[in-house]
Amino acid sequence: MKKLSLFIIAAFIMTACTKQQPPVADYDIIPQPKEVRLDDGKPFELSPKTVIHYEAGLKREAQFLSEYVNDIMGCVLKTQEYQGQTDGIVLKLSPADFDQAEAYEISITPKQVTIKGADAAGVFYGIQTLRKSLPIPSLQRGVGGIQCQLPSATIKDHPNFAYRGMHLDPCRHFIPLDSVKVYLDMMAMHNMNQFHFHLSEDQGWRIEIKQYPELTEIGAYRNGTVIGHNGNLYDTIRHGGYYTQDELRDLIKYAAERHINIIPEIDLPGHMQAALACYPQMGCTGGPYEVWRRWGVSEDVLCAGNEEAMQFAENVLNEVMDLFPSPYIHIGGDECPKVRWEKCPKCQAKIKELGIKGDGRFSKEDFLQSYVMNRMAKVVEARGRRVIGWDEILEGNVSETAIIMSWRGIEGGIEAARKGHDVIMAPSSHLYFDYYQSEDIANEPPCIGGYLPVERVYEFQPLPEVLSPEEQKHIIGVQANIWTEYIAHFWHVQYMALPRMEALTEIQWNNPKERDFEAFVERCKKMRQFYELYHYTYADHIFNPQVWADTVETNLATRKPITLREQPVEKYTYGGAKVLNDGELGHGAYNSGRWLGFYGSPLDAVLDLEQPVEMRKVRFHALVNKSAWIYNPSSLKVLVSDDGETFREVGQKTIPISTWEDRDGIFAYELEFEPVAARFVEVVIKGHDLPEDHNGFGNPAWIFVDELEVW
Ligand code: ACM
Ligand code: ZN
Repeated sequence: MKKLSLFIIAAFIMTACTKQQPPVADYDIIPQPKEVRLDDGKPFELSPKTVIHYEAGLKREAQFLSEYVNDIMGCVLKTQEYQGQTDGIVLKLSPADFDQAEAYEISITPKQVTIKGADAAGVFYGIQTLRKSLPIPSLQRGVGGIQCQLPSATIKDHPNFAYRGMHLDPCRHFIPLDSVKVYLDMMAMHNMNQFHFHLSEDQGWRIEIKQYPELTEIGAYRNGTVIGHNGNLYDTIRHGGYYTQDELRDLIKYAAERHINIIPEIDLPGHMQAALACYPQMGCTGGPYEVWRRWGVSEDVLCAGNEEAMQFAENVLNEVMDLFPSPYIHIGGDECPKVRWEKCPKCQAKIKELGIKGDGRFSKEDFLQSYVMNRMAKVVEARGRRVIGWDEILEGNVSETAIIMSWRGIEGGIEAARKGHDVIMAPSSHLYFDYYQSEDIANEPPCIGGYLPVERVYEFQPLPEVLSPEEQKHIIGVQANIWTEYIAHFWHVQYMALPRMEALTEIQWNNPKERDFEAFVERCKKMRQFYELYHYTYADHIFNPQVWADTVETNLATRKPITLREQPVEKYTYGGAKVLNDGELGHGAYNSGRWLGFYGSPLDAVLDLEQPVEMRKVRFHALVNKSAWIYNPSSLKVLVSDDGETFREVGQKTIPISTWEDRDGIFAYELEFEPVAARFVEVVIKGHDLPEDHNGFGNPAWIFVDELEVW
């Protein structure tokens, strides 16, 4: 007995000793370095005594590394200029050793860690890699003065894309400067180098312009905001804010220290209603206009035939360029309705003066927009900068020097690259981080809609195979966008960004040919520890995969042969007719692949039950998302047949249209009828037209149906 307890004590001591090993760094991080070669030999031991030596020009980088180590381990490493020391950490500039900008190499030996870069940015990314490799639990477990061990290794790395961007919209909801700085910190941790700052909108103007003080005195505030997805109810809370030029200078410096360039966007000639509220004479109708309280696309845009409005835009861009050193200036160009220009005498006179004609593909008003964009591009290029515009600016004859930001899919990017434009890929299909990242939207903070889980971001291929290698060279970068109509707080911005930024940086930095999502998720788990460390809010779906109770009970129609007499819209066809009886429900997002979308034609499906069966009810779900033009059906009719050719009606009903007072969501509809025996069932579901109080009035509404059930 005594012997046994001695043995237990000895075993306990041994276990305690093993536990005393310092934690070990792991280089399997995000984005994954291109080459990691683990060397034999002892590790480098990082302790509070480790000194960071830096070559001239890398002082701030050394401070960053010291700050990061302090965040993780709670000890401040001393930094001092490099004088040939053979211990500690050394930061070096070594452009001759690299053939591209931003590349770096880390060499870890028992005596020294050397980070050398092609430039200071390269050293900075080497520091990010070292930082993300550090074991986070070391804060609690540092022993004997050693905080952690770095296995001997050589790491070589460089980015695939020179342009690695994130966008932020502080216009729909104002985002305080300190929060924007945190956003830049998040970008830096993900090796991103271009911050697209969307500074003007219908709903608020956010940048101080000295020549036009009303832009921020009046244009930065709206007197209320529409409730929900563009209903008819408004709150009366004054919302707004803006950045002074001094604040922006401070932000530009903060970003530059982190090797991030800030690209200011002045969105024109559309999305200008806040500016028109200040200067109504610059709109086609002369106003009055208000800083918009609704979401969507305002029809009131800058008057392209008004010289004062054009000079206003030029003056604003010049003042923006005085402030921002960015080599790129974003001039918007998206979503500019032409309805005012079509009726405006000044715009029409301008069209005449310029001798503009439509060409069958584009209207004369489209070409008038090209005139505006090309005129602004000249102002920007006169100062040695380049313009970026959203892909709509291809509609007309925009100059080839403009960089195209492809957001309505990748098609605009493909067309632009073929025409010789440089391109940034930011398609809403994969990189709009304002979309839902779970199908369980009842348990998500409300957002604009859509469905874009991390998996989908991770799948994105930015270099379309239809382009030749020469054309692919025009794809200079990749970017994700965060619009804030439904994102009123910075915690929610973070939630939408994380962990999707992990997938984005993998594409931007590595664009791997082979993608292994499971291995990627494992690496995300380490990043999650950083989110916790820095108190970042994040979405945890990939860390806690949920099992959906998402199938319907098998009914008479489940997985029986089905044909459609009217086809869904191609984009929302997915697996075709069988989506309608595969037994899987649709959840909230209309683009999840589990809904079929019909526009302007009914859903008309014929189910073959394979033998005569008795039935008494047809049931289905439809989605309502009114601001996305998706309404409940207007009618449901059921017919049956014995031979699949002659059908007889067994029942029908009409369904009143959903109003703005009704909530959006998923609703079940059913039609009961006298029991009938038949082999074939035809279900016809018709849609409503958009009502008068909808901004799409006069057009059909969409219908989205997930599953047809027969009981
Ligand atoms: C955009 O999302 N309107 C560029
Ligand atoms: Zn006009």
